Parts: sequence; C-alpha cells; structure tokens
Amino acid sequence: DREDQTPGVNVLVTAGPTREPIDPVRYLSNRSSGKMGYAIAHAFAHEGHRVLLISGPTSQPIPDHVDYLPVTTAEEMHQAVSRHIARMDIAIFAAAVADYTPAHVEPQKIKKTGARLTLELVRTRDILGSAREPFGFTGTLVGFAAETENLEQNARHKLSSKNCDLIVANDVSQPGTGFDSDRNEVILVYPDRSVALPADDKVHLANHLAEAILELAAGKADR
Ligand code: PMT
Repeated sequence: DREDQTPGVNVLVTAGPTREPIDPVRYLSNRSSGKMGYAIAHAFAHEGHRVLLISGPTSQPIPDHVDYLPVTTAEEMHQAVSRHIARMDIAIFAAAVADYTPAHVEPQKIKKTGARLTLELVRTRDILGSAREPFGFTGTLVGFAAETENLEQNARHKLSSKNCDLIVANDVSQPGTGFDSDRNEVILVYPDRSVALPADDKVHLANHLAEAILELAAGKADR
C-alpha cells in the first residue's frame, strides 16, 4: 500500500471482464483479457501515483505497487466502485462489464432436456453512468467505448450521456486490436476535439493515455 502522504494522485481503474453465473458451473462473460486496464494501472503506479485496480477475473499479473480489489460479477464491480470512487482524483473504466445478467441463477446444474433452452437476462447497473450521480464523483472521469460501428459518433454520445471528460474509443471489429490482443488502436474523444492515435502495443498506449489523462486532470484542477 502507498501511504496517503505520497505525492501524486489517487486513481481508480476498472479492468477485465465480468462473469455472470448461469448455474453452479456456467457463466456469461466476454473476451476481455484485462491487458488494457492492467497496463493503465501499471503506467500510473510506475509514475508514483496511488492506484486502486478493481478487476474482474483475468490471468494478468497484478502490477507492482497497486491496490488490487478482485470482483466477479457486474454487481460486485458496481459495489466496489461505489465504495471507493468518491476519494479518487481520476477514474478510468476499462472493464468490459456485462450489460445483461441471468434473471435467475439456477441452484443446480441445468440438465440437457429439450432441443432448445431460453435464458432470461436482465440489465445490469451502469457503473460508469453512476459515477457522477449517485456516486458523487467530481474528478476526471474517463470511459472506454468498445464499438463495432459508428465508433466516434457512439463514443461522443457516451461522453455526454455519462458526463465524462474523455472517452477512449476502440473499434473492436478490427482484427489484432481491442479484446484480448496485445495491441490497440484508439480515438481519444474529448468534448471539444477528437485525437486518433496510431495502433500501438497496449503498454506503450497506456503510458500515452496516462500522460493525456494527467494533463486533463491538471487542466480541470486549474479551472
Ligand atoms: O481487456 P483487454 O483484452 O485488454 O481489452 C480491452 C478492452 C477492449 C476491453 C478495452 O479497451 C475496452 O474497450 N473496455 C470497455 C469495454 C466495454 O464494455 O465498452 P462499452 O462500450 O460496452 O461500455 C462503455 C463504458 O461503460 C466502458 O467504460 C465500460 O467500462 C462502462 N460500463 C459498461 C457497462 C456497465 N454496466 N458498467 C460500466 O461501467
């Protein structure tokens, strides 16, 4: 743990997928590896900032000098973020949170009886969309947007509807970038401009993102 007297800012990072249980042996999830979020957590910690990494299940090594809070479901991630975000200066949401979860978790393993099986899903709570209200976060808020079409337009919509300072938009239909890859290609969508970054290793990209986000936070503090 880094002591609160350490210079630097308090940063919350969400990373990885969530797992939504169906029955005792099955779950719904997605292809997020956690690489992007872990690289961002590492980049801030390496510069001496205090980082809380709230992560779904991944096989990534936990970066050094990072406070680590593992969670499994979208609901658990929601609760963990709600408990910690108010004291943060910067919050970055790189996790791929399930948008829907099974309406009921079957207590016993589902048997293969019929030719078809229908699962009823219900919406999960939007964590990024709760950051300002009801969580009361007033710091620098950075969301991601994983899109397969209309990348910039959808990202810009998320920027304003979730009251973010920046959306990091990735086109996840491109092979070799986005989910589970070592590389990513993103557009930084700010309220007044967009900046397309060249495709890069997630580690290099994370360093660049950390720098851009710290600049944004410094600008916000000046206002
Ligand atoms: O983990 P990797 O394999 O390295 O892959 C990286 C990544 C592709 C997962 C990452 O770069 C990325 O895009 N993360 C966000 C994925 C996502 O779920 O995007 P979205 O457009 O569905 O969600 C928009 C934003 O809302 C995201 O910041 C997400 O964290 C947040 N969200 C979404 C749903 C929800 N219930 N709560 C949320 O906070």
